Formats: sequence, structure tokens, C-alpha cells
Amino acid sequence: MSFKDFPKVELHLHLEGAAPPAFIRGLAQEKNIDIGKIFDERGGYAYRDFDHFLKVYEAACTTLQGPEDFRRLTLAVLEESAANGVVYSETFLSPDFCGGGDVSAWKEYLAAMVEAADEAEATMGITLRGIITCIRHQGPEQARTAARCAVETMGDFITGFGMAGAEMLGRPGDFAYSFDMAREAGLALTCHAGEWGGPDMVADTLRDLRPSRIGHGINAIHDLALVDRIAEDGVVLEVCPGSNVVLGAVKGWKDHPIARLRDRGVKVTISTDDPPFFSTTMTDEFNMLSKTFGWTEADFDDLNQVALAAAFCDDATRERISKRLEAAR
Ligand code: ADE
Ligand code: ZN
Repeated sequence: MSFKDFPKVELHLHLEGAAPPAFIRGLAQEKNIDIGKIFDERGGYAYRDFDHFLKVYEAACTTLQGPEDFRRLTLAVLEESAANGVVYSETFLSPDFCGGGDVSAWKEYLAAMVEAADEAEATMGITLRGIITCIRHQGPEQARTAARCAVETMGDFITGFGMAGAEMLGRPGDFAYSFDMAREAGLALTCHAGEWGGPDMVADTLRDLRPSRIGHGINAIHDLALVDRIAEDGVVLEVCPGSNVVLGAVKGWKDHPIARLRDRGVKVTISTDDPPFFSTTMTDEFNMLSKTFGWTEADFDDLNQVALAAAFCDDATRERISKRLEAAR
């Protein structure tokens, strides 16, 4: 069976990374921007490895030049998510790509994205929340700028702070100031770790940045004592299996540790990360997990509940989404 119509909760989606290639090509043509050779002959994004992926990603982002581009992008992304049964989504937003970290410019970009999210909620029935995300390879100083944007604009829509980017650059503690600032303001926290780094990177991230969720976290599997601690502490992993397979963080679907982590009691959730870059959708992720590990509707029901409980939204929103999941049973 296909899980296309099965309702889904997604916690880990990079807004720019979800941009359909045709959307980026269209903007490049409209604005006459030379983005270099970032597409393959079939029109999809082309890159060699993770480092090159980040470069292609940033080249694509040069076409996104103002609030209106982000309004259109948000609508295009939510349309695709809604078509795949996603009823609640959290997206990573980076002020670095939206005015370079200037707070008043960021507010204009944010207003445009909120306008699109409101429209999508009304017309497609999908709810969106934003997590402001610093980019690790831009360094700790730029991370503080992102954290300041987060603190200044947190509220109904911006509910979290996180970090993505090149995981092997610097140590988690370098970013403690930004995470402390966000935590003290009341933002929920997540951080990419254990996608490329080993269990030590996951452990240091938990110790120094104290997020309630970890982006990926899959390499924790190489230290079972750490896995048990993650399970005991209720840390939630935002696992993106298709991304891990395509980028080569794991050898293949059968080798993916998501089932072993779950069987050992870890709260795992399912997301797409940057769907067009990995030729995936939430439907594809559910279908592949079902095919690979024999997961059924009951498993996906349970995974949705774990994700919703870990969502960075207020309890009224959680209750509303919970009712939608229930109604779809
Ligand atoms: N930014 C977008 N996708 C990412 C990933 N998979 N890891 C780290 N940073 C990212
Ligand atoms: Zn990610």
C-alpha cells in the first residue's frame, strides 16, 4: 500500500532545501542570476557529496532575494507537503538567507512567510511553525545574530532555535552562548548532530547546548550506553532516512539504524530534510520504512504521536492536530 493519504507530522524540513528545482530555475531566469551548474540533465539538483551539497544549496539560495520570494517559496513547499498528507510541519528558517541577520529585514521576511503559512492553513489545512536556525559553518558570531533574530521574533509562529550546516566544523560548546540566549528567552531547542559526527558529537551537543531534540542523531547507534541515555532522557531524534541514504551517511535503507534505535526505546520521528535534493517526499519515507522494516499503520500512528508530543507548538495547537490525526484513523 502507499501511505500517501496517511496523515503525517514532520519536524525537520529546511525551507530553502525544500525549494522545487523548477521554482529556483524560474527565479534565476526572472532575475537573470547566474547560479552556475547546479542541476543535472533531468532538472534535479546535482551535487557530489555533503560539502558540495551545501555549496549547491547556497547557490540555489542566491535566487531568493526578498520577502516576496520567501512568501512564494513557503506556499510552494507547503503545497507539496500537504499533497503528501502532512498536517503539521516545522521548518528551519535561516536569517542568514533573509537579509543577512539584520533584525528589521528579518521581520519583513518573516511577515511574508507567516502570510503564506496562514494562507496554506486556510486553503490546504496544513499547520506550519518556524525554527530559526543558525548555520554552523558561518561561525559562532553569526549564530548569535540568528539567535538575536529568534529572540526578537519568537511567538505563535517562531517557537524554536536550532543549528544546521557543516557538523564537523567547531565543537558544540562554541555555540553555547546562542543556545543559552534562546533557551533563556523560552525557545525550544534542536541541533543537528550525529549525521556526520560520532556519538561524542551527539553527547557533547546534549551536554553543551541542551536541546530537547537532535537533528539526525543516527550515529549515536555506535555507543549503546549513549543510546540508552537518550532513551531514558526522552531526547527526540528527527531522523531523515532518505537524506541519510542519498548523502551516504548510511550504506543503504537496510543498514539505517532508525529501527534499532526505536526498538531500544529511543523516541524517533520521520522527516525529509531537503526533499527535492534527495528525490524524496514524506510519502516515500513512509513507504520505504514500511518496505524495509515492515512498519504498519499502527507503527506510523505511534510515530506521529511521538512527533506531535515533541512538536514545538503550544498545547492548543497540539490538541487541534491530535484531533485531526484521530479523525483520520
Ligand atoms: N542543511 C540543510 N540540510 C542539511 C543537512 N542534512 N545537514 C546539515 N545541514 C543541512
Ligand atoms: Zn537537516
